[in-house]
Amino acid sequence: MLLQAACVLLTACLPLATAGPVSRPKAGFDWSSTKALIAFGDSYTYVQGTHGHQNFSFIGDQFNLAYTSETLLTNKIVQNQTATAEGGPNWVEFLTKCGIKEGLTSPQSCKKQLWDFAFAGADISTEYTPLHHNFTVSLVDQVNQFKQYGHPALKHTIKSQLTLIAIWIGINDINDSAQYAVDFPTFYKSITDALFDSVEDLYGLGYKNYLFMNLPPLDRTPGNQAKSSPSPNATQVEWYNSALAEHAAAFAGKHKDAEVMLFDAHARLGAILDEPAKYGIVNTTNFCPGYDQPDIAVNYENYGCPTPLDKYFWFNSGHMTSHVHQVLAEEVEDWLRR
Ligand SMILES: *[C@@H]1O[C@H](CO)[C@@H](O)[C@H](O)[C@H]1NC(C)=O
Ligand SMILES: *[C@@H]1O[C@H](CO)[C@@H](O)[C@H](O)[C@H]1NC(C)=O
Ligand SMILES: *[C@@H]1O[C@H](CO)[C@@H](O)[C@H](O)[C@H]1NC(C)=O
Ligand SMILES: *[C@@H]1O[C@H](CO)[C@@H](O)[C@H](O)[C@H]1NC(C)=O
Ligand SMILES: *[C@@H]1O[C@H](CO)[C@@H](O)[C@H](O)[C@H]1NC(C)=O
Ligand SMILES: *[C@@H]1O[C@H](CO)[C@@H](O)[C@H](O)[C@H]1NC(C)=O
Repeated sequence: MLLQAACVLLTACLPLATAGPVSRPKAGFDWSSTKALIAFGDSYTYVQGTHGHQNFSFIGDQFNLAYTSETLLTNKIVQNQTATAEGGPNWVEFLTKCGIKEGLTSPQSCKKQLWDFAFAGADISTEYTPLHHNFTVSLVDQVNQFKQYGHPALKHTIKSQLTLIAIWIGINDINDSAQYAVDFPTFYKSITDALFDSVEDLYGLGYKNYLFMNLPPLDRTPGNQAKSSPSPNATQVEWYNSALAEHAAAFAGKHKDAEVMLFDAHARLGAILDEPAKYGIVNTTNFCPGYDQPDIAVNYENYGCPTPLDKYFWFNSGHMTSHVHQVLAEEVEDWLRR
């Protein structure tokens, strides 16, 4: 079954006609009894791990894909200014409430364990876009790595039926390919085909609960707002999101025992950009140039910023602030509890 955010509440709705059924099964997914969240994706989702590649991952990298159960199970989530791409906790940490506090957190100590295999800078597959760095782990390889090392290590620790798989990807793909000379709807269909090949692998391991996040309004980054022709533009973002919705619906149609949830992050983030004051945000057009300075929390004015970072929508040229991640996570949680 495919569940989508109620369209009536949203300013920009996904094409529900192509997105399949929107009801949820009676005996379906239950967030309150969910014990673990396994995440895949890019910098929007990555968390720093003590056994991770600094600034990029929770565990390993493309040159160090193998790890033992012991390494995974003793790995800890780091929380500090440089441990996410937002200068503070991100959406999966807020959603699970795992790893929010400053310092180190063992996922196993959390009521909802967060096992995060997202890699900052990841695209879906090297078949379509090049790696950002030679050590970057693409989404396809995150899932391969999980199959080989993560799942065997976790299967005695967490139960697949009490686990939610969360995937937020495509942000780098659409940016990296924005100027390609391709037919974009076809291209986005191909890259989301590759994504769902990996999702099939996860399903094959016994995971039945899926949360997909669609693309944010990337045509509204500070850089794109300043351009007469944003790149990617709104049409490209919409095309990608339609391809994702169609694939999610097809996956749900094929696997009747799977709970497939597609959260309309695009609409929700667009609503925050449209009415920022409701969320305590005053700045949607720029980011604070001193965002990565160690003293930014107190000395923001020294960097030409009239307000603290949590009054900004954008943290830097391509990432939202931790405050926006918190708002989003609360909305995702309310929606999961529906
Ligand atoms: C991680 O990022 C921080 C802040 O941007 C930087 O100071 C540090 O050198 C980076 N670490 C590595 C290993 O690249
Ligand atoms: C964050 O924690 C990591 C790992 O403990 C450490 O290497 C890094 O220097 C810390 N960054 C800050 C800003 O404290
Ligand atoms: C990865 O790239 C870095 C610099 O971009 C280079 O120095 C290094 O040799 C490369 N590593 C491998 C194994 O190719
Ligand atoms: C966005 O870019 C695509 C690909 O270049 C183009 O076909 C489309 O017309 C553009 N849309 C807008 C609104 O500019
Ligand atoms: C938004 O942030 C930029 C960069 O810090 C700043 O120059 C601008 O004055 C801010 N605008 C508002 C409305 O706060
Ligand atoms: C998007 O791609 C452009 C050009 O390929 C690059 O300059 C820019 O930094 C990228 N933006 C983000 C947010 O990654």
